[in-house]
Amino acid sequence: MSRRTSSFKIAATLAALAQRTHAASIYVSPTGSGSGTIDAPYGSIQTAVNAAKAGDTIYLRAGTYSPTTNIQIKKSGTATSPITLRPYNSEKVILNGEGLPGTPYGLDESLPNGERGILHIEGGNYWAFYSLELINGPYGIYSRDSSHNYYERISTHDNYESGFQIQGAASNNTVIYLDSYLNRDPRKNGESADGFACKEGSGEGNVIRNSRLWNNVDDGLDLYMFGSPVTIEEVYAWGNGFNRWGFSDFNGDGNGFKLGITDNPPANHIVRNSIAFSNAKKGFIDNGNPGSLTFERNTAWNNGDNGFNMRSSTSTLKSNVAAVNTNSQVSLVSGTKSSGNSWDSSTTWSNSSFLSVDSSTLAGARGSDGKVKPSNFLVPASGAAIGATTQTTV
Ligand SMILES: *[C@@H]1O[C@H](CO)[C@@H](O)[C@H](O)[C@H]1NC(C)=O
Ligand SMILES: *[C@@H]1O[C@H](CO)[C@@H](O)[C@H](O)[C@H]1NC(C)=O
Repeated sequence: MSRRTSSFKIAATLAALAQRTHAASIYVSPTGSGSGTIDAPYGSIQTAVNAAKAGDTIYLRAGTYSPTTNIQIKKSGTATSPITLRPYNSEKVILNGEGLPGTPYGLDESLPNGERGILHIEGGNYWAFYSLELINGPYGIYSRDSSHNYYERISTHDNYESGFQIQGAASNNTVIYLDSYLNRDPRKNGESADGFACKEGSGEGNVIRNSRLWNNVDDGLDLYMFGSPVTIEEVYAWGNGFNRWGFSDFNGDGNGFKLGITDNPPANHIVRNSIAFSNAKKGFIDNGNPGSLTFERNTAWNNGDNGFNMRSSTSTLKSNVAAVNTNSQVSLVSGTKSSGNSWDSSTTWSNSSFLSVDSSTLAGARGSDGKVKPSNFLVPASGAAIGATTQTTV
């Protein structure tokens, strides 16, 4: 090896090390006006995003941030050095979008792509977001053409569109411990604001887990026109699709889990250990998705229409429970494969078939580990391993 090559190699190694150990901490405070240090934090999250490099952490000090232009995230971390956005220690951070355009626009007006989301993530990969509460925005989190992002303990509520939406080319995004509720869209009289949506796009490896989606104007979860499998585990959707806002020409759909649309490319979504209850309409629906979905150990209870409605998929349903729903418990097109579900035996299910029909623990404060607290809610009194349970991971 020539001396020149070896010194070049040493320089390259040092540069790589410097890169790897860069990992700056950048601080922001609602009252800041400084240069991003802990003693003189920035006053704007956007300024911190602009300064961040792969491996950096942006720490938000406690308080309410009320931006007047939305926060645009268009840069990326790397697989080994993501960029992190989180509160400092366990300080409470709220991002209030009420001052942004589109909160709301008038009936039937359009909401331009760039204005969507208090956090508008577009072409932003390898980010990690923790413990942020996003309220009153034109969407809470809106992620477009972005992959490999990790979201933990996010709360999105009272936004003027969906609380959390992933759209476009999107792979390997993980959403865990999301709470998304009371999102509504006066602009569309309730036609489109869901708790969580992964819509109009494709990409493998997207997962939502241990999340609660409730009292949204349209559906709890909606995968409209998303052409790749999404994995849904321990997700609880309730109270969606009621007109809580007095919209005059109400358009909310009111399904717990809406898993496609008729002219979707087939998308073989997987739904496990999840619960749809007390929604205005149906619990779990393929909505015409022509794929082969998998439903294991889910429960649909006390919804305003069928518990499970498969109208065109060749889905596999195993060990699910549909009980106390308003219409026939299930409506399954021929071609679905069904075994070990409540409807596959002659047992009649009623409220007294469960240890408890009290959802207050499920809807209450999460545990310190971020998970919903375990309870007897909708656990079969018989002890049978059927339906969803918050007591264990199945
Ligand atoms: C998603 O992650 C898996 C597992 O880490 C990986 O094999 C796959 O290539 C990733 N997909 C994309 C599109 O990057
Ligand atoms: C089942 O229990 C729920 C919650 O208490 C109640 O709202 C509902 O009316 C009950 N349904 C029947 C059929 O007993």
